[in-house]
Order: sequence, then C-alpha cells, then structure tokens
Amino acid sequence: MSSQQKNAGILAMEIYFPPNCVQQEALEEHDGVSKGKYTIGLGQDCMAFCSEVEDVISMSLTAVSSLLEKYGIDPKQIGRLEVGSETVIDKSKSIKTFLMQIFEQSGNTDIEGVDSTNACYGGTAALFNCVNWVESTSWDGRYGLVVCTDSAVYAEGPARPTGGAAAIAMLIGPDAPIAFESKLRASHMSHAYDFYKPNLASEYPVVDGKLSQTCYLMALDSCYKRFCDKYEKSESKQFSLKDAEYFVFHSPYNKLVQKSFSRLLFNDFVRGASSIDEAAKEKLAPFSTLTGDESYQSRDLEKVSQQLAKTLYDAKIQPTTLIPKQVGNMYTASIYAAFASLIHNKHSSLAGNRVVMFSYGSGLTATMFSFRLSEGHHPFSLSNIANVMNVSEKLKSRHEFPPAKFVETLKLMEQRYGGKDFVTNKDCSLLASGTYYLTEVDSKYRRFYNKKTDNSCRVANGH
Ligand code: ACO
Repeated sequence: MSSQQKNAGILAMEIYFPPNCVQQEALEEHDGVSKGKYTIGLGQDCMAFCSEVEDVISMSLTAVSSLLEKYGIDPKQIGRLEVGSETVIDKSKSIKTFLMQIFEQSGNTDIEGVDSTNACYGGTAALFNCVNWVESTSWDGRYGLVVCTDSAVYAEGPARPTGGAAAIAMLIGPDAPIAFESKLRASHMSHAYDFYKPNLASEYPVVDGKLSQTCYLMALDSCYKRFCDKYEKSESKQFSLKDAEYFVFHSPYNKLVQKSFSRLLFNDFVRGASSIDEAAKEKLAPFSTLTGDESYQSRDLEKVSQQLAKTLYDAKIQPTTLIPKQVGNMYTASIYAAFASLIHNKHSSLAGNRVVMFSYGSGLTATMFSFRLSEGHHPFSLSNIANVMNVSEKLKSRHEFPPAKFVETLKLMEQRYGGKDFVTNKDCSLLASGTYYLTEVDSKYRRFYNKKTDNSCRVANGH
C-alpha cells in the first residue's frame, strides 16, 4: 500500500432530511395508543416524512450537490459513486444514474459504482465498496462518494411511528479524519423473514416486529463476539466496552439502541471482560446460565443490564441519539445520522477516539466495524463537518404537521407509488434554497426534478 492510501475513510459529510415532521406525542393521541408509547416506549421524539414533492432521488440530489458545493469539490474529482437504499423506485435504473446529472454537467461521466440494496444495510455495503476501492490497486486518485437515501414508511399500525426519511452523502478518500480501522470488521449474515418488501406494488414492508428485534440483537451479539476476537488477535489484549469512546448503532427507534448497548454490557460479563466490576458481576450472576434464546426473552435481564449500563450509556451512546430521535428511522442513513449526531455534539473533543459502529439490515446482514478519529485539516476536519451539516439549524427550521396531514400525505403517496402521468403540486415553499424537488412523472414513468433557487418556487394554486 502506498503512503497515499493510508487512513482511508470519510473526509466530509452532508445530511438532508425533509422539513416536514410530525411530533410523536401528537401521533400517540391521534392513534389512540396509551400516552408515552411512542415517546417513552419507543424512545422517539419526532418523525420526518417526505411530502409529495420529495423522494429518495430528490433527497440524494440535494445531499450530493450540497456536499460538493460546501466543501468546494469539483465534480470532476469524483471517481466512484455508490448509493445505498432500500426505497425501490425502479427495478433496473439505479438511483446513482439520476445523480449522474450533477456530474454530466461538468463533463465527468467516468464514475464507477451503482446501488446496493439490503434493507438498512445497503449504505454500509456502499461505504465498504468505496473504502475498498480507495485502498485497492484500481484506485485512480480521485474521491469516492457514498450516498445513503431512504424514505421509511409503514402501513397503518404499530410500525408506522418508526418511520422517517433522510439522505446522507459521504466523501471518501485517504488521510481521512474519520479513518477505518480496516482489520476490525466482523459480520453476521443469515436468512430471516423479519422485515422484507415482497409486494413490489407497495412501498410498505411486511414486518414481523418482534422477530426483527430478536434478529437485530442476535446479529449484534454475533458481530460483537467476532469483533472482540479479531481485536484480541490483532492487538494481543482483550476488548471491552472501555476500549471505544463511543458506540453507534443502526437506530430504527431509540429503545432498541438502549437495549443494544445493555446487551453489549451483558456480553462483556459473559466474556469475563474488565469493564464489568464486582458489583455488576454479582447482579448479573443469576443470568449466567440462561441459554441464548432465554436471554433474549428475559425481561429481568433486560432491566438489570439496562440499569447497570445507564452511566456508560449516557457517556458513550447518548451523544449519538439526537438525529435518529428527531427524524426517525432513515433506514440506510440511520446509522450514519447517529454518527452525524456524535460529530454535531462532540466534534471538538473527538480527536484520538475510537468509535464502534453496528450496521444492521433485515433479511439479514450485519457488520460491526470501527473508526479512529482525528481532527483533520480544513475543509476535511471534524469541526468543519459539524459546521457544514448545521444540524441544529436544520432541526429548528422544520415545520410540524398535525398527524391528520401526515396520514393524508401517506395516502397520496400510496396512490402514486409506481404510478405515471402525474404532476406534483410543485409546492416547495418549505424547502430551503438549493433543495431538489419532484415536479412530474410523465406517461413513460420518467421522473423530473427542479432545484429550488431563492425565487423559483411555484405553489399549487399558483404563480
Ligand atoms: N408508556 C411507556 N412505554 C410503553 C407504553 C406507554 N404508555 N406503551 C407501551 N410501551 C412500551 C412497551 O412496553 C414496549 O417496550 P419494550 O420494547 O421494552 O417491551 C414498547 O413500548 C413498544 O411497545 P410494544 O407493544 O411492544 O410495541 P408494538 O408491538 O406496538 O410495536 C415495534 C413496536 C415492534 C418496534 C413496531 O413499531 C415495529 O414493528 N417497527 C418496525 C420494525 C423495526 O423497526 N424493527 C427494528 C429492527 S429492523 C429495522 O430497522 C426496520
């Protein structure tokens, strides 16, 4: 490997989520569920959703063009573009090809990569492809670009409050402030019907919610064990929760993240790791004889391990939860939005830290991997990434809709899904300048987008 290719990883990030959102508290009331079910039971605050002028293509066009502009990247400098998404708009034409519009304008059509799909894992597959390319002999010295884009919507019922929507773009190259520790990657992949989309006429998944929770936790256990084994082989010492400053999880809803972290603590106990003190050992001892299956079902174990994990959770997880709690599940973008929350909250103190990432996609595919962070150099520095993403401002400038409007929007999207020959209301009044929006799907299913400029927004009845 040449010195140029060292520390391959993420140089720059941009996040986009729709300005439309619904408060989970209002949704609880609207759905007639007990107070606290979504806000405490699922741990969610708010949920973003696409209006009729937004979709995964418009969101990714926005994220990519904004990243290039804000970090001063010439589109000619991109040599690979990979997209992760599970929101299928076309069974053949990739989302990546829509994004090529941005690059064709500058004469750059020499860009490898297409889309990767497997539930919420596609973005991680795309990221690995790009990082592997930068580390490989076929790398041509240009940047890679990864885009995770999804609109997570569910049929009416208990899964609906676990929706969300966002796109994240990540620039990939050597000497990155967010560098992969490439030897520390551990996967668990198997066959399960926990969440899948067999009905191609519907955007909604078929979901076995309880099974998906267990599959997620089993995959987490398996990845963590393998991750620890690999660490121990390469570093000749034991790994425990103490060896990473932060853990970032794929976040369908915050409650599962809370359960996941306490599950890692239980794993450390079972492995006899140094993160578990004598008092904790005593409290966990009654559970040491449980079989794997019994341990997933034990409410007592869940309660005790969550109590024991509380202080560590506040330090190592809480700073990663802001965007997933506010925006909801963003499928492929969800884990990277959690990571973006960490950069937003802690960018000035992250240099030297190790961050362990857990990516999960139903079906199922999962990988645990890790980053080593450094401050970097402008424009590719942690502080500039926080500055460009501007998360507080984006969250603050959102528009809250009543649940009835959210339900009405989802009904319209249901009717339009897979449809042709319609024009949207072109109402981009809530969109920030520079945001792309859908204007029309013609009689040949071709999709057309505009970019909002300061004075280019038309409304339904309008001008
Ligand atoms: N106050 C506080 N907590 C409450 C209240 C209340 N009023 N009411 C319920 N709760 C708690 C429950 O005790 C439960 O907690 P627990 O998880 O610790 O047991 C939690 O809220 C959820 O309530 P349930 O009745 O178990 O939830 P329900 O069956 O209605 O649905 C589920 C939850 C399964 C997560 C559903 O939303 C779903 O299917 N979501 C999509 C699947 C998913 O996201 N899976 C995750 C991995 S796969 C992926 O990323 C897509």
